[in-house]
Amino acid sequence: MVKAWRTILGVVTVVHISAVICLENGLARTPPMGWLAWERFRCNTDCKNDPDNCISENLFRTMADILVTEGYANVGYEYINVDDCWLEKERNQYGELVPDRTRFPRGMKALADYVHSKGLKFGIYEDFGNYTCAGYPGVIGSLQQDADTFASWDVDYVKLDGCYAHPSEMDRGYPEFGFYLNRTGRPMIYSCSWPVYQIYAGMSPNFSSIIQHCNMWRNFDDIQDSWASVESIIDYYGNNQDVIVPNAGPGHWNDPDMLIIGNFGLSYEQSKTQMAIWAILAAPLLMSVDLRTIRPEYKSILQNKKIIAVDQDPLGIQGRRIYKHKGIEIWSRPITPIFQNYFSYAIAFVNRRTDGTPSDVAVTLKELGLTSPTGYRVEDLYEDVDYEILSPQTKIKVKVNPSGVVILRADVQSDYDRRATYYTTQRTAYSPLNQVFRIRNNGF
Ligand SMILES: *[C@@H]1O[C@H](CO)[C@@H](O)[C@H](O)[C@H]1NC(C)=O
Ligand SMILES: *[C@@H]1O[C@H](CO)[C@@H](O)[C@H](O)[C@H]1NC(C)=O
Ligand SMILES: *[C@@H]1O[C@H](CO)[C@@H](O)[C@H](O)[C@H]1NC(C)=O
Repeated sequence: MVKAWRTILGVVTVVHISAVICLENGLARTPPMGWLAWERFRCNTDCKNDPDNCISENLFRTMADILVTEGYANVGYEYINVDDCWLEKERNQYGELVPDRTRFPRGMKALADYVHSKGLKFGIYEDFGNYTCAGYPGVIGSLQQDADTFASWDVDYVKLDGCYAHPSEMDRGYPEFGFYLNRTGRPMIYSCSWPVYQIYAGMSPNFSSIIQHCNMWRNFDDIQDSWASVESIIDYYGNNQDVIVPNAGPGHWNDPDMLIIGNFGLSYEQSKTQMAIWAILAAPLLMSVDLRTIRPEYKSILQNKKIIAVDQDPLGIQGRRIYKHKGIEIWSRPITPIFQNYFSYAIAFVNRRTDGTPSDVAVTLKELGLTSPTGYRVEDLYEDVDYEILSPQTKIKVKVNPSGVVILRADVQSDYDRRATYYTTQRTAYSPLNQVFRIRNNGF
């Protein structure tokens, strides 16, 4: 174990860089991006009366088409993911899982082929229990067979839920299913619900085991279509960041659940906030929205390349809430480029207040922990504002709308050419593991 001392936000913090074993299946080097059916389409199986919105192969084909034709694939959205309610209620005579015969008449291999023909990847859902959450057959008792089935269908991503399972069996069961996925020889992202069910059961999840076996995992409640739900997730990740943040890194991510931008529950400002905070959290970006009817202003939030670049930053360090006072929060994430031991940062100012006028937040870069004497090139990632190169002493003032966000990117400048440089050789020196940033105690 190496200990490196760094100064962040004016206090000395210690960074432990230890040889931790993580899942290395070559996948999810940056947080996975794609589309997932659940939050928006749920368990609608009524194809007779609602053919356009039921869980069926048509829905997934249509979303795959739109991902490509409407520019989502171009900015990085790659996976088309099925969630619950795709199965027949019984396995077949050989004990195999069977997709619903009327809703997926051509079967899952054909659907995967279709998704692949679009240059996309295909994800599926199962459950480490006797049943899926909606009551379809779970994988318990058939772990190896089901992993083999998924590989034979050319699945690229498996979400394994945790309903109808004993949380105490998950420490053994999730790794076992991961073992069988690995044994198929087909690389499949492994998304686990392991910690959240253990937390619900009052257990402390063994994260060193979880990062060893899963590419991503859920820590907290399912997202619902409301600002209250998004806020509860933001608070959970902020309040528990000392436990949560160190577990993220290339190949293994915390999953605060789907993006609900473009649905019914979030305003435009709130949608911008969800996108910004998910990027700070290095979250998988899984849209759950009807891409056929999404309004253009929400589509452009989801396709904001500058914010996606923050989410997909190659260092893979999850950000933290560094300030919270009277409804104003500041979230910060170290990103590339790095110059002489100084990170660049994405900084999100969130206004949780509901008094109906924007709040001003004024702060120097130094107070945010941005102390490189070479300065930072600062730009706003939603508004087309380039602050150009600022020194650590510069005071910046942002106006943050109620339940809205201002997200900035501050790229550290190199002193040779005033153009920031990214040193690959330094990457390993900045392990995301056990990164500690302290919250300032005093206000600005
Ligand atoms: C699943 O089914 C088995 C066999 O019937 C049973 O022993 C087990 O307790 C069940 N698990 C749960 C979580 O209900
Ligand atoms: C299986 O695990 C080994 C060892 O961690 C890894 O190198 C390999 O890429 C994995 N293969 C698949 C298909 O996941
Ligand atoms: C957590 O998992 C690791 C790796 O599998 C194991 O070595 C360790 O004993 C586990 N810790 C606890 C408290 O069970």
